[in-house]
Amino acid sequence: MSAANTTDTSPAAAATEERATPEPTAIRTPEPATPQLVEVETPAITPVTEPIDDEELEIEGWDRTTSTSTSISTSIYRHSWENGRRFHSYKHGRYPIPNDDIEQNREDIKHAMMLEITDGKLYYAPLSKNAQKIIDFLVDDAEEEWMNGDNYDLVHMRSMSSVLKDIPKVLRHSYSALKPGGWLEMQELQAVLHCDDDTMPDDDGLLQYYKTLNSALTRFGMDLEMPRKLRSLLEEAGFVNIHHIPKKVPVGPWASDRYLRVAGLYLREAISHLIPATTSKSFRALGLSEAECEMIAMSARQALQDMSRHRYLPFHFWTAQKPE
Ligand SMILES: C[S@@+](CC[C@H](N)C(=O)[O-])C[C@H]1O[C@@H](n2cnc3c(N)ncnc32)[C@H](O)[C@@H]1O
Repeated sequence: MSAANTTDTSPAAAATEERATPEPTAIRTPEPATPQLVEVETPAITPVTEPIDDEELEIEGWDRTTSTSTSISTSIYRHSWENGRRFHSYKHGRYPIPNDDIEQNREDIKHAMMLEITDGKLYYAPLSKNAQKIIDFLVDDAEEEWMNGDNYDLVHMRSMSSVLKDIPKVLRHSYSALKPGGWLEMQELQAVLHCDDDTMPDDDGLLQYYKTLNSALTRFGMDLEMPRKLRSLLEEAGFVNIHHIPKKVPVGPWASDRYLRVAGLYLREAISHLIPATTSKSFRALGLSEAECEMIAMSARQALQDMSRHRYLPFHFWTAQKPE
C-alpha cells in the first residue's frame, strides 16, 4: 500500500516562510501551529461474497495472566474504581478509559489485529541491523521530562497520539532522545468510523456510539483526528524523511481478503470490550443518564454484529527520522 500523496501547505511551512522576513523592530512570537489534516486515499476494502467458515470466527486464549510493568513512581499505579472498572487516578484521572485486566486484554487483541495488517511487522522504520536502543512506553508519563537517557535508535509509540494532551512536547522529547539518524514511529488507530460504499446509514447504532465517544473524549482533551495531523507536527519538531502508510481495518469479518477478515474479527472483539469500558466514566461526562448510556451501548452492540454494513477504522503508520 502506498503512502498518501500530500502537498505541503502546512502552517508550519507558512510559518517558516514568515520567519524568513522578520520585522526589524518588533519581537514576534511564532503563531502556535494548527496541525494540518492529511488527505488519505486508500483503496476501498472488497467485501466477501462467500459464506465464512464458523471456525474462522472463533477467538481463543485472551486471558492475560502476567504483568510486564516496570517499577516507577507509585502515583502511576494508583487507581480509582467506577462502575466496577479500574481507572488511573494519576493526574486526576485524565485518561477516561479503564486500565484493568479487561482493558489489557483489549490492547492484546488490538496487537494481534495490528500484526495481521502489517504482515507481522512490529515496525516499518528502516532501522539498521545493529540498532539496539529502542524506547516504547511501558509505564511512564511521556509528557513529563524523559528520564530514560538518549541516543535511541527508535522511539516507538502506538495509539498514543489521540491520548496525549501535548503532542508537540512529546515529539520534542522524542527528537532529543533519538541519536542523529534515529527513527520515530507512530502507529495510530483513528477511532472514527468510516464506510466507503454507503452501507452505513446515519442512524447506524455503532456510528452513533462512535460519535458520542468522540464528543466524550474531546471533553477529556483527546483528539481522535490527531493520527491524521501528524505530518505538520513532525516537520515542526525537526523530523525529516516523513512517511505515512495509511491502512483500513474492517470492523468485523466482512472483507474478502483473509488477513483483513481476521484483523476485522479482532477489531470487532476489541470494540465489543471498548463499549462497556467507555459508557461509564467517558459518556457520563456528557451528562448522559445511565439509561441513555445503556441504550447507546445496546444499539452499538447489536449493530456490531451486522456485517452487511461495511464499516472500517483507518490506521496510520508514521515514520520520521532525526537528521544525521
Ligand atoms: C489507547 S492505549 C494504547 C496502549 C499501547 N500503546 C498499545 O498500543 O497497546 C493509550 C495508553 O496511553 C496511556 N497514557 C495516557 N496518557 C499518557 C501519558 N501522558 N504518558 C504515557 N502514557 C499515557 C494510557 O494509560 C493507555 O494505556
